[in-house]
Amino acid sequence: MHMKVLIIGGGGREHALTWKIKQSPQVTDIFCAPGNAGTARIAVNVDIGAEKVEALLAFALKEKIDLTVVGPEVPLVLGAVDLFTKNGLRVFGPSANAAQLEGSKIFMKDVLKTAGLPTAAYKIFENHDDAFAYLDSVEKFPQVVKADGLAAGKGVLVAEDRESAKQFVTDVMSSKVFGDSGLRIIIEEFLEGEEASYIVVADGECFVPLASSQDHKRVGDGDKGLNTGGMGAYSPAPIITPKMDQKIQRSIITPLLEEMKKRGAPFTGFLYAGLMISNGEPYLLEFNVRFGDPETQPILSRYNGDLVELLEAAIDGNLSNVGQPQWKDDASVCVVIASGGYPGSYEKGKVIEGLENDIKGVEVFHAGTAEKDGKVVNSGGRVLGITAVAPTIKEAAKLAYRRAEAIKWDGSFDRKDIAAKAINRK
Ligand code: AMP
Ligand code: GLY
Repeated sequence: MHMKVLIIGGGGREHALTWKIKQSPQVTDIFCAPGNAGTARIAVNVDIGAEKVEALLAFALKEKIDLTVVGPEVPLVLGAVDLFTKNGLRVFGPSANAAQLEGSKIFMKDVLKTAGLPTAAYKIFENHDDAFAYLDSVEKFPQVVKADGLAAGKGVLVAEDRESAKQFVTDVMSSKVFGDSGLRIIIEEFLEGEEASYIVVADGECFVPLASSQDHKRVGDGDKGLNTGGMGAYSPAPIITPKMDQKIQRSIITPLLEEMKKRGAPFTGFLYAGLMISNGEPYLLEFNVRFGDPETQPILSRYNGDLVELLEAAIDGNLSNVGQPQWKDDASVCVVIASGGYPGSYEKGKVIEGLENDIKGVEVFHAGTAEKDGKVVNSGGRVLGITAVAPTIKEAAKLAYRRAEAIKWDGSFDRKDIAAKAINRK
């Protein structure tokens, strides 16, 4: 086979997808739109933004792309998969209707309620005054406040007290810091426990689970500070024991896929369950309709199979005939290096030093990078994902940090405790 593949997106997830898909013996040409300085080294970058679905379609038709893989949520919610499919192209990802699971937290909660999935108790608010009245009436804090729509992973506040909850409601509903995503909000019960990411490949009916992983959402060591897109991840996540794995499949993934099918929006694509494991039970915090970033980096680093085969089987509704995916026994840890100021504002265009000296067992996946005058510069908040593979999580973390230490630019920072929870686990 001489396959031409297009990856849509330009983050760390897309660099890792490009890296893995390029290893497939079937693939001869690989494009990434818009890509980053990392994908430019292993694929052809196409200067079309991930949200420009019509322009992406025109490119894919012109180049006769055999398989398109959509990385981020925005083009999925905009209907990229529907559009490509209607035009006779093969594309991996959920339809716009199915992508509403991530596009609207209120839609998601409604699906969870009908399907009886375990999740935090919640209330929906359509105006500021009602939300304030409710916050005045509750006694227990923290409370979790969530903007309804997409907000690049920043639309959630775990509010420790009434004042900060109200401030966030005002920011979201009145100042509209996330635009229309803040027209409605959810306020929900705070769940205590440990988070894990459980990601599967689904074909509308059946699914194949990928290796477990854990993300680090907060910007600071010890899970302090604001939520981010993710500051690092590791796989496997020891909290997902074989028994927990069965529970998650039975109480969360299977009923979700059944409910989406019933609603006429069968889910095909990467389905990402963001979980809180609380008192030995899995609760669903959110569904994402795409692979996790940075979870993709350590998960694909451990994957032994041909990713193209797996994705094609899902498109064909044929996952029941592929076996369980095979993983390296080794663990993988990804440490994100970010721009000073992230998740707030930060300066771009700083030259990144130390990218040259590769060490064995480590991949440096790019995210917010660009090429300027022949040099690699930062162009986003999360810039690099230093991803190591080693026999244990501890060794993988050590290796990733060894590589990360040598890489810097003006203002760069990373969390120093990625994977510490797994390493210190009894
Ligand atoms: P979400 O986008 O809904 O996953 O929320 C982002 C992050 O906020 C999660 O990864 C959790 O760290 C935190 N979070 C969200 N909902 C809750 C909750 N009900 N209880 C505790 N933490 C939460
Ligand atoms: N790492 C969290 C996410 O991809 O949403």
